[in-house]
Amino acid sequence: MKGLRIRVAVPRDIKRMSELEETCFEESYPRELLAFFVMDSRFISLVAEVNQVIIGMAVAELEEKELKKVGHIWTIEVLPPYRRKGVAMRLLRELEERLRARGATECYLEVRTDNDPAIRLYEKLGYEKVGIIRDYYGPGIDAFFMVKDLTKMSLGNLR
Ligand SMILES: CC(C)(COP(=O)(O)OP(=O)(O)OC[C@H]1O[C@@H](n2cnc3c(N)ncnc32)[C@H](O)[C@@H]1OP(=O)(O)O)[C@@H](O)C(=O)NCCC(=O)NCCS
Repeated sequence: MKGLRIRVAVPRDIKRMSELEETCFEESYPRELLAFFVMDSRFISLVAEVNQVIIGMAVAELEEKELKKVGHIWTIEVLPPYRRKGVAMRLLRELEERLRARGATECYLEVRTDNDPAIRLYEKLGYEKVGIIRDYYGPGIDAFFMVKDLTKMSLGNLR
């Protein structure tokens, strides 16, 4: 998309990130948690801007699991008028690159089993459903657990 810029989030972005959360999710992360994501070095928080206005964001955590480093996607969202233009793909690819650069060999996430747009996005980028977590988002609201091997080049990386 013309004029799209992906950059690391800084503290002055937190207010706008919080507004984005409220627009994109029924249950949004509180501003304090977003501030933690931006400030704690274990997290990679990216924003997508058009003409210096934030229209999307994504957050991942670098976790240490049994001697290996693993990325965990906490959130990704794009404002409705800017969807289906490849913004989320750009955000996720950039997150993956940064996770890889910090030694992550795989990346995982949870997604509501009824969130078709997000599931399709993840599958396009090479994530695979490896399980279901019952009641993850509350009673009767299940999540798929999806994983991607970051050491392999997938079609999702090449396109
Ligand atoms: C999911 C979300 C982040 C996708 O953002 P986006 O910028 O529109 O995604 P992209 O344009 O990069 O789409 C990439 C691919 O994902 C798939 N996809 C994205 N949205 C889709 C939709 N509504 N229906 C079907 N496929 C979709 C398509 O394969 C698409 O490629 P294509 O447009 O060439 O067909 C966006 O819909 C959103 O913010 N949703 C609300 C928040 C949310 O649910 N986040 C995920 C939480 S786990």
